[in-house]
Amino acid sequence: MKYNLFDSYIWKSKIKYDKKDQLINNLLQDYFENKNKFTPHWECFIYSSFKHPEQNNIPEDLLDVIEEKILEYLKNCPKELQIKGTYILSDVWYNIYEKDYFQEPHNHGNALFSGCYYLKFNKKKHHQTTFYNPNYNLDYKKLEQNSYFCFEPDCDEDDIIIFPSSLKHGTMGLRDKNDDEIRITISFNITNPNICLNEKVQDKEVSYN
Ligand SMILES: [Fe+2]
Repeated sequence: MKYNLFDSYIWKSKIKYDKKDQLINNLLQDYFENKNKFTPHWECFIYSSFKHPEQNNIPEDLLDVIEEKILEYLKNCPKELQIKGTYILSDVWYNIYEKDYFQEPHNHGNALFSGCYYLKFNKKKHHQTTFYNPNYNLDYKKLEQNSYFCFEPDCDEDDIIIFPSSLKHGTMGLRDKNDDEIRITISFNITNPNICLNEKVQDKEVSYN
């Protein structure tokens, strides 16, 4: 016999955000004005507003739309995951990719669920997000064609996905290195303080007064 354990899945839905074009223009303007201003502490090449509150120009009405989607996700997820309590949209940030930009396989720490809204995305020109089998820690570059280890959901612009935060994922950004069509996603984390580990405790922070 065999035991199937710890089922994992990616939930996909659609977002209708009326002011999308305006938001894209704002983010592109920020990108072109500041793209050399900071380098994130990630092992990748990407323009990201993560942990840069001064660039937090995600509009409130889009956060409302995302929160509605989180509720929809919670209503539709397996009963075992419908844990009563408060769910907090703990981080929201945007990622911008131009040619040669990429994001290495990573997970989202101690959050519960994470999500991605494909704000400016053309699947003919842009790579999908790739998810990696969490049971293994391998050289995934050698396993890209093997869907047991590397899986790509078929997303389009305006799609939103939600997945377990510990599920490793990444993207190669633009498909053609001579292309200049920018890819923009908005990522977010959802925590539930009743059951999530406290990031601060895990970070082994030292305070000196
Ligand atoms: Fe991510």
